[in-house]
Amino acid sequence: MISIIRFMIEEVKKIKEMAIEEISKISDLLSLENLERKFLGRKGLLREILQKISQLPEKERPKIGQLINQTKKEIEKIIENKKLEIRNWELEIDKTIDITLPGDKFFSGHAHPITQVKNEVAEIFQSMGFEVIEGEEVDNDWYNFEALNIPAEHPARDMWDTFYLRKNNKLEAINDKQKSLKSKVYGLRSGASLLRTHTSNMQVRVMEKRKPPLRICVVGKCFRHEATDATHEHTLYQIEGFVVDEKISLANLIYTIKCFLNALSRKEIRTRIRPSYFPFVEPGIEVDIGCENCQGKGCSVCKNSGWIEILGAGMIHPKVFESAGYPKGRYTGFAFGVGLDRLVMMRHKIDDIRWLHSGDLRFLRQF
Ligand code: FA5
Repeated sequence: MISIIRFMIEEVKKIKEMAIEEISKISDLLSLENLERKFLGRKGLLREILQKISQLPEKERPKIGQLINQTKKEIEKIIENKKLEIRNWELEIDKTIDITLPGDKFFSGHAHPITQVKNEVAEIFQSMGFEVIEGEEVDNDWYNFEALNIPAEHPARDMWDTFYLRKNNKLEAINDKQKSLKSKVYGLRSGASLLRTHTSNMQVRVMEKRKPPLRICVVGKCFRHEATDATHEHTLYQIEGFVVDEKISLANLIYTIKCFLNALSRKEIRTRIRPSYFPFVEPGIEVDIGCENCQGKGCSVCKNSGWIEILGAGMIHPKVFESAGYPKGRYTGFAFGVGLDRLVMMRHKIDDIRWLHSGDLRFLRQF
């Protein structure tokens, strides 16, 4: 019996020595887990000895039991220390940089498709002798409407309904009920602040400061209280061009627009000119271009007409010159306002304007 006890004590000692040696040789967590299973697991070496305890006389059992428990704790401690050691190594390895490895790809981003076209447009107009400006996005009722021959309660205001600023600077869309109160609440002639509905707000702003000849191009953001759809956004970009001098004609206007559209499309573009009405021009026209999305066959973008309205234009109305303080009958000029977002849609065959402001990177990374 004594020899069995001695044998078991020897066995436990050997297991401990074996554990110390094997654990000291490894350097990764997976191998450490395997060793933990080998020595301490349910079918591990210490467990095997524990199962043999029943063969011993009852009074000898606690002694061997204690030895096995003690050894188990010591091996656990050794494993725990080794784990810490391996984790520290790994941290050290992370800190070192292998300069022979290929670098991480750096995602640099790029200009938004609207910005890309906006820059191109500015370059084209500069090459035609225009001065490019941006102008006020927050303006007042005078420059956005009244100076442009759109008095309060003029029906044309409905087309350009916008967001007004209260005195405490909270933005608010005007609904029908508020519209009737508008003059009382905002004091129209006193110059209520609003988000400009078109870049035409810059016509009188520039004219009152400068004398002709003028060749100005305004590129910037406009805002409308709009029910959005595939071609209408509440926030849009426009390009306004206006030329003021003596003897400017409608022919000059049409030629300028065609040159611009051809330069931007890098090809001869199909255009259609229709008479139209804007209170600040006389005569007024609208220019459509053939829908690039369906090549004129008809689709949701062109509302099955094969054409997309791209700009409004005309000869500057004498009332506008009057607002600017120019002498009566002295100057003539033309003006036009192009929807920049729609030009972007045409260029990239985008079927819904709302993609452009969605901020969806899956969409934007295509350009
Ligand atoms: C105007 O804004 C006039 N100021 C244009 C003008 C300037 C006429 C100078 C005469 C002289 P209109 O509301 O039609 O007009 O808008 C001009 C262009 O902006 C449209 O042809 C269209 O291309 C674009 N546009 C208008 N509303 C939206 C909208 N909600 N979303 C996107 N593009 C729009």
